[in-house]
Amino acid sequence: MSDRIYIFDTTLRDGEQSPGATMNMREKVRLARQLERLGVDIIEAGFPAASQGDFESVAKIAEAVKDCSVAGLCRSVKSDIDAAWGAIKGGVSPRIHTFIATSDIHMKYKLGKNRDQVLEMTKEAVSYAAGLCPDVEFSAEDASRSEPVFLAQVVQTAIAAGARTINIPDTVGYAQPQEYGELIRYLIDNVPNSQEAIFSVHCHNDLGLGVANTLAAIKAGARQAEVTLSGIGERAGNAAMEEVIMALNVRRDYYNLETRVDTQQIYPSCRLLSMIIGQPIPPYKAITGANAFAHESGIHQDGMLKNRQTYEIMTPDSIGKSSSDIVIGKHSGRHALKSKLDELGYKLTEEQLTQVFQAVKNLADKKKQVFIEDVEAVVLEEVYRIPDRFKLKYLSSMSGNMAIPTAALRMEVRGEEKQLSDFGVGPIDAVFNTIDRLVERHPKLLRYSVNAITGGTDAQGEVTVKLEENAMTSVGRASDPDIIVASAKAYINALNRLAKKEGDPRSDVGYYDSVTP
Ligand code: KIV
Ligand code: ZN
Repeated sequence: MSDRIYIFDTTLRDGEQSPGATMNMREKVRLARQLERLGVDIIEAGFPAASQGDFESVAKIAEAVKDCSVAGLCRSVKSDIDAAWGAIKGGVSPRIHTFIATSDIHMKYKLGKNRDQVLEMTKEAVSYAAGLCPDVEFSAEDASRSEPVFLAQVVQTAIAAGARTINIPDTVGYAQPQEYGELIRYLIDNVPNSQEAIFSVHCHNDLGLGVANTLAAIKAGARQAEVTLSGIGERAGNAAMEEVIMALNVRRDYYNLETRVDTQQIYPSCRLLSMIIGQPIPPYKAITGANAFAHESGIHQDGMLKNRQTYEIMTPDSIGKSSSDIVIGKHSGRHALKSKLDELGYKLTEEQLTQVFQAVKNLADKKKQVFIEDVEAVVLEEVYRIPDRFKLKYLSSMSGNMAIPTAALRMEVRGEEKQLSDFGVGPIDAVFNTIDRLVERHPKLLRYSVNAITGGTDAQGEVTVKLEENAMTSVGRASDPDIIVASAKAYINALNRLAKKEGDPRSDVGYYDSVTP
């Protein structure tokens, strides 16, 4: 059995199905390029039959990505398979990923088919797909709740029809690690043609076992892991790629398996995803959270000073999160900034570089250390933000335990400069009330979160807001060393997105415009 694990990333497909994680086409291409840099083997780019937008983004990703396979998902029906093939066939290494449910409950209530019909559909779909594309993956949806003998029959049929990868999903996150590992072993040992395919796993996290199940299946012989960055995905999400990869790396002694992933690209990839979808990485998140390498207790700090290995099983450097990665200070030059941006994959024009350089210098005046994350935030704010209908010109705010929280703002509203001040129960409320009156809108605030981009009290605040008005929602995000300013900018960003969506409710609105290196 091979000692190589193939990493199949489904952030752009299953991940994108998670609430609030919608990405526009340019954001998807940007993320796909980063996944390529990370070194995944397969990128599942979307579900082309789902919509014209999905079809086009999968086609664009297939065209842009050169160093890994690009898969399109499809049900086991001809029209879906045609759509998937149509979207990926221009790519360097296309893969058709077709699936059908195999559990009794899914077959009866969802498909209205019996076992024989599902076997027949598997055979037809896989052989049709294999006639179009040499690389076909087959998934038995809800495999972990399927009757094992029938599942083995389906798998055998799919392999005989030409599938080269067989995926055994734990679709509803029901399996337990040992049981799931045994299912994989059972299939490998009992399906007569199992050696002609690579067994893959795809684990949802409903019971918090996505990563544990993935690793148990790998231990039992699976050689492809389907994962997402930061574990985003349907309901409670999918197995988190960074956790699976680092478990294989840190415990190489136990697994003895290799991937092609450049672990130093893990943090930049999760960070990019977080910036695109406007959802901060939780501080306690394994591997990438702000606290993952923080040592609070005196005993731990003492141990760390004596020998880092006492409490550190991996280094921040190994995931590309170097605390010493201070990229620019007051005295650093434009050239240093340009090479850092090149490394991150941002190709800016001379004019954009000047704009970013100036903004980074201004930030370096306010902040002791400017980290890579700060620079990325500046690039997104300065270069890629969508053209604003509403713009912040000036903001001052007052608060405290003896003051009535007050905000005064000047804004450009549809080309006209306006200024106003108002009160609130706190400074953010005062700012949002004033903006509402200036733009003459009254959206409901559904979510507000603030997160420090890096450590330290002078860290930039990254704010995400979600608004709802006229049955439409939008999410805005922004960063600034002053969290009141960041909040105002994020609120205005969400209002701009709402306004753009209203113009065309189907419009492909991202936080940022053309985030494509
Ligand atoms: O969870 C699942 O079963 C899936 C399949 C379509 C692979 O996402
Ligand atoms: Zn799934």
